[in-house]
Amino acid sequence: EKGNHRHFMAKEIHEQPEVIGHTLARYVDFAAETTRLPADLPFDWRDLKRVVISACGTAYLSGLVAKYWFERFARLPVDIDIASEFRYREMPLDADGLSIVISQSGETADTLAALRYCKAQGQTVAAIVNVPESTIARESDVIFPTLAGPEIGVASTKAFTCQLTVLAALAIAAGRARGTLSAEDERALVHGLSEVPRLAAEALRLEPQIEGLAKILAKAPDALYLGRGTSYPLALEGALKLKEISYIHAEGYAAGELKHGPIALIDETMPVIVIAPYDRIFEKTVSNMQEVAARGGRIILFTDARGADEAGEAAEVTIVLPDMPAAVTPIVYAIPIQLLAYHTAVFIGTDVDQPRNLAKSVTVE
Ligand code: F6R
Repeated sequence: EKGNHRHFMAKEIHEQPEVIGHTLARYVDFAAETTRLPADLPFDWRDLKRVVISACGTAYLSGLVAKYWFERFARLPVDIDIASEFRYREMPLDADGLSIVISQSGETADTLAALRYCKAQGQTVAAIVNVPESTIARESDVIFPTLAGPEIGVASTKAFTCQLTVLAALAIAAGRARGTLSAEDERALVHGLSEVPRLAAEALRLEPQIEGLAKILAKAPDALYLGRGTSYPLALEGALKLKEISYIHAEGYAAGELKHGPIALIDETMPVIVIAPYDRIFEKTVSNMQEVAARGGRIILFTDARGADEAGEAAEVTIVLPDMPAAVTPIVYAIPIQLLAYHTAVFIGTDVDQPRNLAKSVTVE
């Protein structure tokens, strides 16, 4: 049931500190600050030359974040694609490689077909699923469950952040096994992960401020989301969430792609949501923001105190998140992004939990 919340989506957004905590407890040892995966995995991280990931929609976007993590922490190249393209592309796969499929429901037809293709090619298939009795879970060689609990709202929220949590733990474990992370690196990363439930709770306290932004967004015919690095998949996720529940046309772009086309769209009617925790490429994102501001675009910036300081006057509104290690920003920044879509949709009056034309589980192609 919805408890005190108006919608399942609101309830599920607010459950995140707790369900991320449950999920983490399954994959990390908090006391030792190490990852903890089953000892009998049907693959060895050290033997892998690459990982292939396929999934749909929001689950695909969690995989896109994980690509950055696997490549950085484990120096393990990742090929990722949406399952509906992957399944027909007949990508050559070496036998004995690892494929990862990601699915909340575990019943998505295209993701299941991608899994079957990978198995037929001799790959070991690992599934990150929220429903352990699902078809995808049953047909996989190993499952890494997300412990998000049932997700009722059609728009995926808590399943997404739990998928990210599992994927972060896997990438760290892979890095440790492959010798690209030291024991000390692992401890620092796991320590950062263990802070996520608290950081997520702090992010939820931004809700009144974010609710205030809904009226800006609700009037806009279109919106643009920008980010770099792991904030780029988050920009795609922000745009997906906004369009599916508020029906406002939105696009997510890598900030560096702005000048290759989408900057032509910028005028005073265009809100531009920039996701940019302060990091080593923050300056690059600031210069993209200045390009938007110079053309009259209205910038809503999600950053931290340092980023707010460095960004100067470019943004019309800045939402300041707590400081956190770079590795966990995609998990925590997902929350205000979800809240922004949610409150915009509530302000407009759409059916948030059951948006038109959408189904929770897409069991047909
Ligand atoms: C978006 C959303 C969808 C699903 C996609 C995959 O909010 O919910 O994009 O993420 O249909 O579904 P699962 O994860 O069940 O395979």
